[in-house]
Amino acid sequence: MSFYITTPIYYVNAQPHLGHAYTTIAVDVLARHMRQRGADVFFLTGTDEHGEPVADAARAQGVEPKELADRNAAQFQSLMPRLEASNDFFIRTSDDRHKRRVQQVLERVYDNGHVYRGVYEGWYCPRCADFKVENEILEGNRCPIHEIELTRESEENWFFRLSTFQQPLERLYEERRDFVMPGRHYNEARAFIDSGLQDVSLSRARLNWGVTVPWDPTHVFYVWFDALLNYYTALGYARPGEDLTERFWPATYHVIGKDILKFHTVFWPALLMAANLPVPRHVFVHGFLLGADGRKMSKSLGNVLDPFEVIEQYGTDALRFYLMRDVAFGSDGAVGMDSVRSRYDAELANEYGNLASRTVAMIRRYRDGAAPAVGTDPALAAEFEGLAERVAELLDRAEATQALELIWQRVRRLNRYVEERAPWQLARDPGSAAALDQTLASLAEGVRALSVLLHPYMPASTARLLEAIGSPDTGYEGAAFAALGGGASVGELPPLFPKRA
Ligand code: ME8
Ligand code: MG
Repeated sequence: MSFYITTPIYYVNAQPHLGHAYTTIAVDVLARHMRQRGADVFFLTGTDEHGEPVADAARAQGVEPKELADRNAAQFQSLMPRLEASNDFFIRTSDDRHKRRVQQVLERVYDNGHVYRGVYEGWYCPRCADFKVENEILEGNRCPIHEIELTRESEENWFFRLSTFQQPLERLYEERRDFVMPGRHYNEARAFIDSGLQDVSLSRARLNWGVTVPWDPTHVFYVWFDALLNYYTALGYARPGEDLTERFWPATYHVIGKDILKFHTVFWPALLMAANLPVPRHVFVHGFLLGADGRKMSKSLGNVLDPFEVIEQYGTDALRFYLMRDVAFGSDGAVGMDSVRSRYDAELANEYGNLASRTVAMIRRYRDGAAPAVGTDPALAAEFEGLAERVAELLDRAEATQALELIWQRVRRLNRYVEERAPWQLARDPGSAAALDQTLASLAEGVRALSVLLHPYMPASTARLLEAIGSPDTGYEGAAFAALGGGASVGELPPLFPKRA
């Protein structure tokens, strides 16, 4: 089974922030999970380098757009390993190979008769690189996302006949209720379509930082068309000498924030239809991380939590866990250093970390580091029954927070099990040796199975733990709680999530 998943490509007008890390981490969790299940996975991320957002930022800094793009693209590229993102490729839209393929696809759209010359006038946000329709505009003619003042723009340029795709899009939405997820965003996209589609401008005459329009070299393509096509163009050249298009197109999941819903759920499928290409299977729309002020964290509002600071203080796995746990994936949620700290202390250090330490320490103390190879506790096993399947079902629908919650309930269950069985008491009574064997085997098995399920969320710490308990395999077949536990030799394990002062 092939599984192609993407993040948005990020604007290089500024440096990466937590919002970018968030989408990347979520996509990485899904990609790693699907790899565990043996799927043929391709995970794409990258940078969006053209258009007004980048040209304007470069001008403000007195540098050429390419210089700013190179500098910030390097920042985004180095963000990926720091997040432990397992992306299979990093696309930059200033790459000639991308540009050539954009031209090929849009030339086909032109040849198919979906492009004409016209004049557009409207209220424009240069940060969004988007004209706003009346009902989106905030009081005082401001952008609903960036809250900056919109400018009245009018220009003659090439238009894409979006209106032609009114009915095909209605049909798509009728036939595929899971085209946009979660449902509330499906409804939002559908309402936008139902309100009647207007043609959109496809090119810019005033700008030269972009992909040249092949049939009119005085224009560049409007950045959104160039950007959306990255999902398609990358497959053509990501592997030298190999074209991955057949293998991975159409994409399984485009994961995006809700700020760019209209482009991905309306423009994008229409553009693909216009180019005779299959549309993606799902667009998953997540919410906004909000600053402590309750507003969307964004570069222009300046209320940003720094992912590098979180990584420095708590580690990458803690950042990944925090973001998937504290903000329900698909909804908005406030984030801040205080809640990072309390999740870390209460859940990573005291629950999972402590469970791991106690399990390892008890096996080493009471059984000389050999996990007893005996049957596990059937009552406990029953509480794990079906867990791996439920987690897979949820992650098939990109429900990353719900899946984590199910796993975490079992982390808590195992800690209660330790208290219930009180191994330290069993160890004092020679007549309880079998009960102690069963307890330790069950704990070792439970911790192992949960760590396999947690592996996509926290790859480094779970790998350390699995290594220490002598079961380094992270494959999904190992996610079930087995009837037989133990058998492996258990080594030392320094605290996974050290308590902080
Ligand atoms: O829009 N909360 O790039 P961009 C959650 N280049 N997610 C957030 C976020 C927040 N506060 N802030 C940013 C662009 N994001 C275009 C995309 S795609 C063909 C072109 C994440 O740098 C979220 O995924 O503004 C959002 O959609 C994306 O970053 C926007 O990044
Ligand atoms: Mg943005």
